Amino acid sequence: MVELTGVCRRTGGGPEPALLARVVAGLPGRRFLELGAGCGQASVRLAGLREGCVIDALERQLVLVEEARLLVARYGVAVRVIAGDLRDWRGLLGGGCYDGVFFNPPYFEAGAHREPRDPLRAAARMTLHGGLDAFCAAAYGLVRVGGWVVVVYRGDGVGGCVGALQGAGFCVERQIVVETGGRGLVMMVARKGWVGPWYGCRGAVGEGMFKGL
Ligand SMILES: C[S@@+](CC[C@H](N)C(=O)[O-])C[C@H]1O[C@@H](n2cnc3c(N)ncnc32)[C@H](O)[C@@H]1O
Repeated sequence: MVELTGVCRRTGGGPEPALLARVVAGLPGRRFLELGAGCGQASVRLAGLREGCVIDALERQLVLVEEARLLVARYGVAVRVIAGDLRDWRGLLGGGCYDGVFFNPPYFEAGAHREPRDPLRAAARMTLHGGLDAFCAAAYGLVRVGGWVVVVYRGDGVGGCVGALQGAGFCVERQIVVETGGRGLVMMVARKGWVGPWYGCRGAVGEGMFKGL
């Protein structure tokens, strides 16, 4: 359990960080990156579940970067919080360096949905600085061949999520429907490159379900 500060609650508070940490903790590798880490909850949780791993967390809003650094210090975990825009990842991080990348991007199209008045919340929830396509493209550049990406997205946006992952070059391997007791969520696990004959490259080839989160 990670205690949230007021700033964290302005931008999050949903089940996504716990979901990401739980699923990512079960995947192979030791170098992981969270894109759009907010105040770092998912990465801090993951560090508690997978000691000895290298975990980087990239976030563009400086207020959240500071919050994430405080959270990392409070829980005494090894997460490196990096300030920057994922669309400029080439100037910040090494391409193909990570075994796995994970994120829950802003869910709502800027211009198509009502924007929250709080600018911090708006930039966390709306695609003001890039949406799924930008997140997937950055993830593809940053993960090694054979590595994986995990995405949590709105349950009604499954088609868009599969399209963005495939458009970036990933092979969608697993689709997990999440029952949250409110709005539905979906998790996707996808791979970069050919890793074996049993992996499908068209749509979701496996399904599972989390309940009671
Ligand atoms: C839906 S929030 C998720 C935050 C965090 N993962 C959580 O669940 O608490 C999306 C995050 O992505 C960040 N973000 C949006 N566009 C970004 C960009 N271009 N570069 C880096 N971070 C970005 C937002 O500031 C926000 O913190």
